[in-house]
Amino acid sequence: MSTAPRRTAAEAYEKTPTVIFQSSALAARELALEVRALIEERAREGKNAVLGMATGSTPVPFYRELIRLHREEGLSFKNVITFNLDEYYGLGPDHPESYARFMADQLFDHIDIPKENINIPSGKVPSEQVFAHCREYEEKIDAVGGIDLQILGIGRTGHIGFNEPGSSRDSLTRRITLDRVTRQDAAADFRGEENVPRFAITMGVGTILRGKKLVLMAWGENKAEMVAKAVEGPMTEAISASFLQGHTNARFYIDIGASRELTRVKLPWLVGPVSWTPRETNRAVCWLAGLLQKPVLKLTDEHYNEHGLGDLLSEQGPAYQLNIRIFNHLQHTITGWPGGKPNEDDTYRPERASPYPKRCLILSPEPQDAVVSMGATLERLSEQGHEVRLVALTSGSLRVPDREADKFAETLRELAAVVSDPTAWTAQTAYAEEVLKMLAEKGDFGADTPLLRQLKALVLRGELRDAANACRISNEHIFFLDLPFYEEGRYRRFKSTQADVDALTNLLREQRPHQIYLTGDAADPSSVSGICYRVFQAALKNCEGEEWAGACSLWLYRGKERPLEAHEIDMAVPLSPLQLERKTRALGRFGSLSSLELSSPESNRQNAAHYDALGLAQYEAIEAFQRWSRA
Ligand code: F6R
Repeated sequence: MSTAPRRTAAEAYEKTPTVIFQSSALAARELALEVRALIEERAREGKNAVLGMATGSTPVPFYRELIRLHREEGLSFKNVITFNLDEYYGLGPDHPESYARFMADQLFDHIDIPKENINIPSGKVPSEQVFAHCREYEEKIDAVGGIDLQILGIGRTGHIGFNEPGSSRDSLTRRITLDRVTRQDAAADFRGEENVPRFAITMGVGTILRGKKLVLMAWGENKAEMVAKAVEGPMTEAISASFLQGHTNARFYIDIGASRELTRVKLPWLVGPVSWTPRETNRAVCWLAGLLQKPVLKLTDEHYNEHGLGDLLSEQGPAYQLNIRIFNHLQHTITGWPGGKPNEDDTYRPERASPYPKRCLILSPEPQDAVVSMGATLERLSEQGHEVRLVALTSGSLRVPDREADKFAETLRELAAVVSDPTAWTAQTAYAEEVLKMLAEKGDFGADTPLLRQLKALVLRGELRDAANACRISNEHIFFLDLPFYEEGRYRRFKSTQADVDALTNLLREQRPHQIYLTGDAADPSSVSGICYRVFQAALKNCEGEEWAGACSLWLYRGKERPLEAHEIDMAVPLSPLQLERKTRALGRFGSLSSLELSSPESNRQNAAHYDALGLAQYEAIEAFQRWSRA
């Protein structure tokens, strides 16, 4: 019997039942409890529970919860058999980025599962044996009675496992060439796209669909578009996750960020009655204008009625009045004075006029984030006389390629050889030799030693100073917090602690800012910015009741996540062509920005194009911010 939840009118668009959780932690807990129930039921029957496992950042909170259930509540995994979805082809289990290593680190080494019950495709099987290896994997799954519960994540190509676009509904375990987008997404793990394996062995779509129950998890706004396509769009080989629609017991467990593009969330008026809050009203009007490609002021009563917005019109119309109200609202989001315009009426300005100057705290999860996302606003704030403090929350050392450390060590060694008294430079030479030795020993993917991490962090500090100076922030106004969680971990596997919260709380108390800029609210919760965001929430909570905290305004900017849409923007800071050029030049000071980061000026241009299309003034570019609600 299917255990799919009862469907409401609002979910009518969703062809695979989808549950939206307030947070990934809550979803992970729910799923872990389901797994516990399954394991315990099977144990009572004297049987095994067969679990299909996924890797990547998505299942990390779920695995942490399983470990907690084992340690604190005595859940035993003695009767559990697991099959992992996939493995990079070419990587052995000792490779730090292999999925075998990942599973050991994230789960298996912390629970009592018998080693012989763990199955992961081998990335090292010789080419001519791949076919037989894959067939055996399928047979092994069948031999234990099939997978009871398959855990899934979804990639930006819509893949489940590594079933990239083109994978058929009936595909079985096989070797596959990884899509370019998938390789881009793994680039940070492998320190550069060029190092990401080209192939993987993956269970097929058909293999996955044989599972008795499937749960696909997705967190953060970057997953929202793919989730919506997979859940609401047609079943298609272009998006292998869409095949879950054909399964009788499949569900999506997603957080609020990942739900953003579902019809019930994005266009709620199409699925039922809506409470027309100002944000919802904005959203509807901007959507209608976009759909009809008309400026807001040209929308008519008929346009509203004919596109499902009759309710809104009868509540807030006629169109003429509603349009003007929304137009004025959008107009008032635009300001060249992000810190507030001193001695001016601020009734309709995004930021208050006083106090002036303001103490502005700009929080950058990794050193480059703030310059990438709000470099021109940084410059404005500083130019307009505010006390701007730019804080790099983490050292960012993981993103610095080995070649930078190598370059530094080589230069140091050469310098030591050419100075007038080389004997005075023996310590420097020894340091350079040490760095070069460590680089050689660790190979391409080995973990950096503390010394290497320190050197890489210093390289990035230099780049940040250089870029921030280009945005008129001087060195004494740049702070490096080096949050400890980053120093302990690796991409996708970080875990923050009280020490992180304490460090940020202290900084806030020292600075007592009037204005804070931060990011990460829409990010994958296990990403650096997602973690920094939660650390910030906790730090701010510590300061609750302190006078400065109550009066401080908080502005969110977007980094790697989907840019803010027009209806979500509370402050739009326009950029002249010259300012945009200066920002682009500032970005050039960083040695290793991703293509997404480098495209930030283009995204600023897009913001301006959207405002233009809505009938507002034409600007070259816009940096956009959302007011942070303390809820
Ligand atoms: C991993 C796997 C993939 C991931 C997907 C999402 O075993 O099968 O389908 O689930 O690429 O990756 P993350 O969770 O890192 O966003």
